[in-house]
Amino acid sequence: MRYIIISLLFMSTLWSETSYERGEYLYFSKACSSCHGPSAEGSMSYPKLAHKKFAYLQKKLLHFRTGKVDSVSQQMMAQFAEKLSDEDIKNLCTFFSQHKENMTEDVSDDYLGGVGS
Ligand code: HEC
Repeated sequence: MRYIIISLLFMSTLWSETSYERGEYLYFSKACSSCHGPSAEGSMSYPKLAHKKFAYLQKKLLHFRTGKVDSVSQQMMAQFAEKLSDEDIKNLCTFFSQHKENMTEDVSDDYLGGVGS
């Protein structure tokens, strides 16, 4: 009996993804990385997201999601934000604000289907 409980506990830790991991998954699966970069480092007109404050990013995404945007670059973002749920936004902002510098190259390669990184 004890072994069953121990193995169930062990399996549940394997199954329960953290908010950070869900955010990371969304970031690559929703193609955010194609503009903001594989390490959320940004480039040119695409802002860096890694290590910015949770509350700031969440406010931005909620704003973009309303679609009430007033520039072409915000318009670009709005179409990606409109498909995000509140939960998605929380997970993404957790991922950005707690971003681990050395993100595994393998992860981005996987999600991008091996096409560039
Ligand atoms: C087509 C390119 C593109 C894609 C794809 C894209 N973004 Fe953006 N994103 C932008 C641009 C451009 C801005 C700057 C908008 C502005 O002028 O405020 C931006 C801004 C942001 C900001 C605000 C950053 C800040 O410091 O103000 C967040 C947060 C963000 N994007 C998250 C995401 C997430 C999450 C996804 C995926 C669901 C995503 N973006 C996909 C282009 C993109």
